[in-house]
Amino acid sequence: MREFRIAVIPGDGIGTEVIREGVKVLKCIEALDKEIKFSFTYFPWGCEYYLKNGEMMEADGIEKLKMFDAVYLGAVGAPGVPDHISLWGLLLKIRKSFDQYVNLRPVKLLDGVVSPLKDASPQNIDMIVVRENSEGEYAGLGEWKNAGLENETVYQTGVFSRRGTERVMRYAFELARSEKRRLTSVSKGNALNYSMVFWDKMFEEVGREYPDVEINSVLVDAASMLFVMAPERFDIVVTSNLFGDILTDLGAAISGGMGIAAGANINPERKYPAMFEPVHGSAPDIAGKNVANPAGAVWSASQMLDYLGETMWAQVVLKALEKLFLDQRRLTPDMGGHASTGETGDEIVRNIRKIKSLY
Ligand code: NAD
Ligand code: IPM
Ligand code: MN
Repeated sequence: MREFRIAVIPGDGIGTEVIREGVKVLKCIEALDKEIKFSFTYFPWGCEYYLKNGEMMEADGIEKLKMFDAVYLGAVGAPGVPDHISLWGLLLKIRKSFDQYVNLRPVKLLDGVVSPLKDASPQNIDMIVVRENSEGEYAGLGEWKNAGLENETVYQTGVFSRRGTERVMRYAFELARSEKRRLTSVSKGNALNYSMVFWDKMFEEVGREYPDVEINSVLVDAASMLFVMAPERFDIVVTSNLFGDILTDLGAAISGGMGIAAGANINPERKYPAMFEPVHGSAPDIAGKNVANPAGAVWSASQMLDYLGETMWAQVVLKALEKLFLDQRRLTPDMGGHASTGETGDEIVRNIRKIKSLY
């Protein structure tokens, strides 16, 4: 019996709606595979919790989460709580406390999904973005001077350490080597004369150890253009925290929308639990309407299965998503359908059962 302890943090807004479907999928797998057992422990942390208790999670929340194999998170953020408070108090706190320095975000056009790009195909939109997830522009360092005065000035300091930069690049090189794919570094060394000059230098330095990996380096402005004009140029992409954040929303847009995109926050040494979450936020504009697309949350559950060593099930879940898109019978409104979040989740579960019976 393979047992996995999952900490579930549905969070805010549509986070709760999409995570319900992701858990449905995992429970379906448990029912189909007698060798797998998930135990789910729910944590009610988020903005509502904050408004009642004055903090986004319990004081010993990180200690509590340490006991789990993985964290499954919906989304964080609600009108009424400043975003920098809610995000630094929960999502970013977990990423940092658990040194989840790799944020893996597939940008892949699944079969059946319509891209807004006219020449798009599953062959030419198929990349993995390796986003630095522990420092960089998100170091959280800075200063607010002379508040309210004419000479008011704020500083937001980026931190790019040798250790932090090297380790994420090494991860990306190893991934590119194992998949025999090209690695692109996205930077901005022409304008950011410390951080990105250093980033480029480290990319060159680490790259010398991987002569077998084909590499190139693209400036982030040009990369944004190429994501739209020539996405086939990218296979594995390594980039900084903020550039990775922005590029992966663009990546979501070209591969089916915010409702589909998934991400894994990983500490590759496995010293701490990993966290899986859709790329999207709490979407207050559609929250509570039961129309949120659960696909991103379900795809991130597939990433979780991969991480836990359940690679066959990870594949089955992806295939079930593809079948959902190919059949076009139950799609949420963001994908042109009329199905609810729950109906879409039920359809994914039906697909999993059908696909499993073929194995
Ligand atoms: P968002 O991703 O929540 O929404 C952007 C747009 O995409 C909205 O129009 C929304 O309706 C749509 N959308 C997103 N997910 C969808 C889904 N599953 N199905 C259908 N449509 C979907 O981004 P935002 O509006 O910039 O942020 C809203 C809040 O979420 C803010 O508080 C922000 O800080 C927070 N946020 C949290 C996370 C996270 O927890 N991982 C990520 C991004 C933003
Ligand atoms: C994401 C989100 C977060 C980020 C925010 C909510 C802090 O946008 O996961 O993409 O910027 O990392
Ligand atoms: Mn983002």
